[in-house]
Amino acid sequence: MTLIQLSGVNKHFGDYHALRDIDLEIQQGEFFSLLGPSGCGKTTLLRTIAGFEDVGSGSIRIDGRDMKGVGPNLRPTNMVFQSYAIFPHLSVAENVGFGLRRADMTRDEKTRAVGEALEMVGLGGYGGRAANALSGGQRQRVALARALILKPKVLLLDEPLSALDKKIREQMQVELIKLQREVGITFILVTHDQEEALVMSDRIAVMFDGGIGQMDDPETLYRRPRSKRVAQFIGMMNFLDGEVAATGTEIEVTVQGLGRCSVAAEQAPGAVAPGPVSIGIRPETLSLLFEGETTTRKEVAAVVDEVVYYGDMTYYDVRVDGIEKPLTLSMKNLIGRPVLDVGTQTRVAWDERSLVLLGH
Ligand SMILES: Nc1ncnc2c1ncn2[C@@H]1O[C@H](COP(=O)(O)OP(=O)(O)OP(=O)(O)O)[C@@H](O)[C@H]1O
Ligand SMILES: [Mg+2]
Repeated sequence: MTLIQLSGVNKHFGDYHALRDIDLEIQQGEFFSLLGPSGCGKTTLLRTIAGFEDVGSGSIRIDGRDMKGVGPNLRPTNMVFQSYAIFPHLSVAENVGFGLRRADMTRDEKTRAVGEALEMVGLGGYGGRAANALSGGQRQRVALARALILKPKVLLLDEPLSALDKKIREQMQVELIKLQREVGITFILVTHDQEEALVMSDRIAVMFDGGIGQMDDPETLYRRPRSKRVAQFIGMMNFLDGEVAATGTEIEVTVQGLGRCSVAAEQAPGAVAPGPVSIGIRPETLSLLFEGETTTRKEVAAVVDEVVYYGDMTYYDVRVDGIEKPLTLSMKNLIGRPVLDVGTQTRVAWDERSLVLLGH
């Protein structure tokens, strides 16, 4: 069931076109993310859904109702802001109960609701603590509990985890996913961290310059980016030049350094025409062939140019004849597998099925 529907939404700040023709449908119970570089309009889009910004043209419907002229406090949404504002001089319970101050509930009912909301975010028993005696991760949970207590249909989260360090952020990501499944509320998460978006979302809208570049589930976005821009923004990608000779259910393409290839039409999700084309290859779809190793895949000679050891993985840059920029590839560090030195002559195995044709 569609819960939120944006049609042709445009927003200007003076001369600046901050949102461009946004069409978007978000389903009831969906975990939806807005992903994009700084300044692309993520917060602005979230604020228009929440009702903090008017739209210039287009419409926003939530739960079947047109939101034109409906103020933020009358919308079935609640927002957790980019810089989470909790009140340091209040206790944890007072912070969480803040949103209920005008609710038509008895004192006991409010106390119970606060207790439940704190349980939900894993802060049961912390109600009496001073809010300024909490860690960053705990404060973020307080901000979440304060938003959840009003039982919104939609929770709007603007980079809620960006202030946290890596370990706690990853832990909170998992907890947020669990929480969202439990409460069944629709979440719209803003992030500029592509990994966070991939991990957490049912669907992701990638935004550039106020518009939506691509909207898909994480796997489609990663495996079938529709443009070079999206491919560059999500994960690591090697780009090669090529020339499409013929299109159809199979596409005939000559790839620099790799030669003539035949790929399936779905490997060109952005549609390509005969002529120059940009070809993407993910590092994990390339592999080094160690001494004496054979493969049923295609192979090409290469020289190791750079080695970056990550513990579980090693990233190599390798030079291949006919390709100007080194190719980046990643290898799992299995037991008994050597880490090669710079300058080593080697071979790289690759596969036609992992090429993505991106147009220009
Ligand atoms: N009230 C405003 N008045 C004028 N310009 C604004 C206003 N709010 C935002 N903008 C501009 O609109 C653009 C989009 O801003 P927005 O805050 O939506 O970006 P964002 O994608 O959330 O970026 P970030 O990742 O840095 O938070 C920016 O260029 C910003 O300067
Ligand atoms: Mg923002």
